Formats: sequence, C-alpha cells, structure tokens
Amino acid sequence: MLDKIKQTASYITEKTDFTPEFGIVLGSGLGGLVNEIEILHALPYTSIPNFPVSTVKGHGGKLILGMLGGKKVIALQGRFHFYEGYSMQEVTFPIRVFQALGIKKLLLSNAAGGMNPKFHVGDIVFINDHINLMPSNPLIGKNHDELGPRFPDMSEPYDPQMIAVAKQIADKHQFRSHIGVYAAVSGPCFETPAEYRYIRTIGSDLVGMSTVPEVIAARHGGTPCFAVSIVTDLGGFETAQKVSHEEVLEVATAAEKKLTTIIKEMLAQL
Ligand code: HPA
Repeated sequence: MLDKIKQTASYITEKTDFTPEFGIVLGSGLGGLVNEIEILHALPYTSIPNFPVSTVKGHGGKLILGMLGGKKVIALQGRFHFYEGYSMQEVTFPIRVFQALGIKKLLLSNAAGGMNPKFHVGDIVFINDHINLMPSNPLIGKNHDELGPRFPDMSEPYDPQMIAVAKQIADKHQFRSHIGVYAAVSGPCFETPAEYRYIRTIGSDLVGMSTVPEVIAARHGGTPCFAVSIVTDLGGFETAQKVSHEEVLEVATAAEKKLTTIIKEMLAQL
C-alpha cells in the first residue's frame, strides 16, 4: 500500500508540478463546486495509476487541481463508496495520496438524511462528531507507522476552528445551518423507519453512506478535517417516508451554490 501511495503521488506531482494545500472531497450532487475552481489540471481517475474508478450516477470521476478562494486545492470530483464494493483501503486511498502530496487540511461534503427534528430539507449541517456504524474501519489490518499510530486518538475528529469559520459565513449569508453528529452506514439501502429511530436514539443528527472512512484515514495521518452535509431527506421514523437517489441528487444540487459560497469563503480565510 505504501508503495502504491508513493507511486500515485509521484505520478500526480510529475504530471502537474502542483503542491496542493487543501484536499476537497465532493459528494453526491455537489460536484458543481468544481465550476468555481480555477482548474489547472483535471485527471480522469482512469488515467491515474492505482486509483479506483467511480461507478455511481452523479459522480464525475476526476481529480481536479487548481485554485479556489486564492488557495491551492486538490479535489476529488466523485468519491469511492464502500457500498460500491470497494474495500476500505480503496475508499480511503485518495486521502492517503492527498496526505503524501502534503495537504494541510481536508474538506468533505456529502448528502445525508436529517433526523434532528429542527432540520429541514436543504439545510446545511457542519459535522462536529461522528458514529461509525459501517461494518469496517480503514485502519483494520497491519498498521503502517509511516501513515499514523496503531491506536489513533479520535477526540477531535472535526476541527472546531474550521466549523466556527463556516458557521460564521453561513450566518452572514443567512443560510439555514446547524452543527451535528453524523452516523455512517454502509448502505446502499436507505434506512427502515426502525433504523432511522435507532440511529437518532444513539445520538445522531444525520445519517449517510460516506465521509467517516475518509475522516478516519485523514485523522490517522493527523490531517485536520471539516465536513458538511446537505440534508436531502428527513428519514421518516415517525411516519414512513420514501427516499430516492434522484431526490437526494436534486436537493443536493439545489443547495450546491450555498455550499460553494461557504467553502470558497472559508478557504480565503484559512
Ligand atoms: N440515509 C442514508 N444515506 C443518505 C440518506 C439517508 O436518508 N440521504 C442521503 N444519503
């Protein structure tokens, strides 16, 4: 794995001669942030050695390098999900490559089900903690001490300073936003009413099928993380509510502009 990470990072450096400061992972329907990036290089995943290939509708499948908010960024347009059949090592491989390229901070976005009764569809939620309900963890197996410790501390999974900056930007623009806990499930089924109730009961405000593996790998390597969800549905746990991928993409796309504004302004301040 270490050789693969180094090989991929060297390929990107040779190809682009670019040293990114910030890593960005763009989730379902949020890939439009890429339109705001002054793109210097766009590498299709298929052209990058050792990179997995994205399979889900709504995911562009390109590695973007360029400027956003005056900062040098590297962005994954389309992430790799555990439910697609990738191993946890594959899901988090791009994060390891970002770290090898020297990123200082990681920013992630996703679409999520909202279970806090205060949430509305289309709201923005800054994640301040998570619960890993996925059946695995990217750090299972031999630990590579070069990447991080065997038993990493997870007392501050999300950087409070980045949350504070993002909240202040959202408030300034009068975007409805909250701070909350995200539970990660494997998917690909949306939850049953009893599952939504369970996930809410154990302390989550949001539920989704991504982000947590990437944050675990990032924190293992000491990279500060920021993650934001768009609430795309309200997990019907009192009355059953149908949820569809099309609806999730539609709401996420509608909220894209707000998220783009926040991330761009955040980067300018970081
Ligand atoms: N559950 C899980 N993942 C999701 C949901 C949900 O309700 N909405 C968007 N991603």
